[in-house]
Amino acid sequence: MSKFRTDQQVITIQRIPRGRIVDICGGGEGVIARIGRERVTAVDRLHSEIDEAKPFAPEATWVLADVRQIPFSDTSFDNATCFFGGMCMSNEVKVAAFKEVHRILRPNGEFWCWDASMPVKEDFFVIRLLVDLPCGKQVTTRYGNPRKEQSPEQVIGIMKAAGFSDVKIMERHEYWHFLIAR
Ligand SMILES: C[S@@+](CC[C@H](N)C(=O)[O-])C[C@H]1O[C@@H](n2cnc3c(N)ncnc32)[C@H](O)[C@@H]1O
Repeated sequence: MSKFRTDQQVITIQRIPRGRIVDICGGGEGVIARIGRERVTAVDRLHSEIDEAKPFAPEATWVLADVRQIPFSDTSFDNATCFFGGMCMSNEVKVAAFKEVHRILRPNGEFWCWDASMPVKEDFFVIRLLVDLPCGKQVTTRYGNPRKEQSPEQVIGIMKAAGFSDVKIMERHEYWHFLIAR
């Protein structure tokens, strides 16, 4: 099996959206919960990923659920985030998940999405990251997944199919991107 590993990619997160945030696929390193603390509700389908992340931000709300069925009512959250969750979902799953995000966001809520751009055809893709948090701390990690093609344009198409009307590319790099959808 061929495996593609990127060099270390540096991501600087200066801020996250205001208000009550739902962070989809939020386990693992719990990057968004570490920043937003009690403002963040992190949803992940794996106990193991939540158990790993929870100690970094025990004051966040941790929800074990599939992001295709998020157990909150319509317009429950001010804003939403996803940090490298899309790379672990097929396009079909992403459409369903992003529709759920759209449903539980208040009108004019924003969806901030950092994710991998995977242009290389390999069996397995690994992105190595150094993430600068607003507090000055850093997270070093790697996320790997059996290869699926993913580009900002594909993700924008899926966001629009899910109901978001305005999507902007905030940052575009060789192996990752940062989008904001409204
Ligand atoms: C690369 S990790 C994301 C890392 C995380 N956001 C962080 O800050 O480290 C991808 C996460 O997405 C979760 N995931 C993948 N598909 C999911 C789904 N359909 N529903 C909920 N969580 C999912 C995985 O369990 C995993 O924790």
